[in-house]
Amino acid sequence: FFCNSPLYYHSFIGCYVLPSRHPMMPPYPYPYEFIINQEDKCSGRNPFLVVLVISTSHDVASRNSIRKTWGNASNYDSVDIVIVFLVGLSPSRSHEVQSMLEEEDVTFRDIIQQNFLDTYHNLTLKTVMGMEWVAKFCTNASYVMKIDSDVFLNVEFLVHQILWPNQPVRHNYFVGKVHSSTGPMRDKMNKWYVPEEVYPNKTYPPYCAGSGYVFSVDMAKKIYDIAQVVRIMPFEDVFVGLCLTELHIPPIHFPRHVFHRFDLYYRCTFRKLVTVHMSRYVNLQVMWQDFWSNRFLRCKQFT
Ligand SMILES: *[C@@H]1O[C@H](CO)[C@@H](O)[C@H](O)[C@H]1NC(C)=O
Ligand SMILES: *[C@@H]1O[C@H](CO)[C@@H](O)[C@H](O)[C@H]1NC(C)=O
Ligand SMILES: *[C@@H]1O[C@H](CO)[C@@H](O)[C@H](O)[C@H]1NC(C)=O
Ligand SMILES: *[C@@H]1O[C@H](CO)[C@@H](O)[C@H](O)[C@H]1NC(C)=O
Repeated sequence: FFCNSPLYYHSFIGCYVLPSRHPMMPPYPYPYEFIINQEDKCSGRNPFLVVLVISTSHDVASRNSIRKTWGNASNYDSVDIVIVFLVGLSPSRSHEVQSMLEEEDVTFRDIIQQNFLDTYHNLTLKTVMGMEWVAKFCTNASYVMKIDSDVFLNVEFLVHQILWPNQPVRHNYFVGKVHSSTGPMRDKMNKWYVPEEVYPNKTYPPYCAGSGYVFSVDMAKKIYDIAQVVRIMPFEDVFVGLCLTELHIPPIHFPRHVFHRFDLYYRCTFRKLVTVHMSRYVNLQVMWQDFWSNRFLRCKQFT
């Protein structure tokens, strides 16, 4: 039944096989292996939230600032939160980068790596790796968030104002900032250019902006499984949207722009947001210091 749409291909007897892989298309499905894994990260506990941070092997600076700020799970003592960083292989294939990464993992035990090259057009593989990891090693969690490493996450707001730890865990739940009625860019100069050989359809399905989206844990396995047969595309957020369409589980658009804002830092504004895309001119640690140490101060209603 997957065979009658050109968006699907391969492996089913009778389905057509693409003649060759366009260089923009990540090789998938493919049995990538976990090189660095946290098999026991979730055992013996029931994390309320697992945060999958999209990272790259050499970017130890961003990981360290996240660990010291919103990613320090010991800040949130009322709920159990797991934070891991997803990486691939350094494209320079540098042994130095890899051995530093392994040392870092010995210290923090929060890195997950598979053996695909860490490139822009391989991002989808990283997201699918995150889904696979949750589906295999962290099924006792309640919710999962995927976030980019240049995004500020307001864990408290997400946990206590959107997910609600005291309520039954939702199923088939996928929420974020939904883009609908968009389509592929066919202009080669565009950052999001995608040729017809890679994505033939003129429209994208509804999908959540990739900077940060949240889903119930059951979705991880569903997305991982369907990802084995949905035709891969290099933009991970669109690809996840294609998987959701195939699963007949539409993503939910959360109102009030709480996901995916670009904003100057104001303590009181940031309190009511889930994700904010950080300008590279903002020092996360300085901002966090103000945000966290003043979290019990009252805000006026409209600031
Ligand atoms: C998952 O949670 C259940 C019930 O809380 C528990 O019995 C089980 O051991 C947990 N599994 C893991 C892998 O921690
Ligand atoms: C995380 O916060 C705890 C206190 O809540 C602190 O002891 C620890 O050093 C912090 N970790 C990092 C990496 O900053
Ligand atoms: C993605 O990773 C695979 C496996 O390492 C590699 O062969 C391929 O060239 C990478 N694709 C891109 C577009 O970088
Ligand atoms: C293209 O996308 C539209 C809207 O999502 C969908 O109805 C249609 O089936 C798709 N076409 C193909 C050929 O997949």
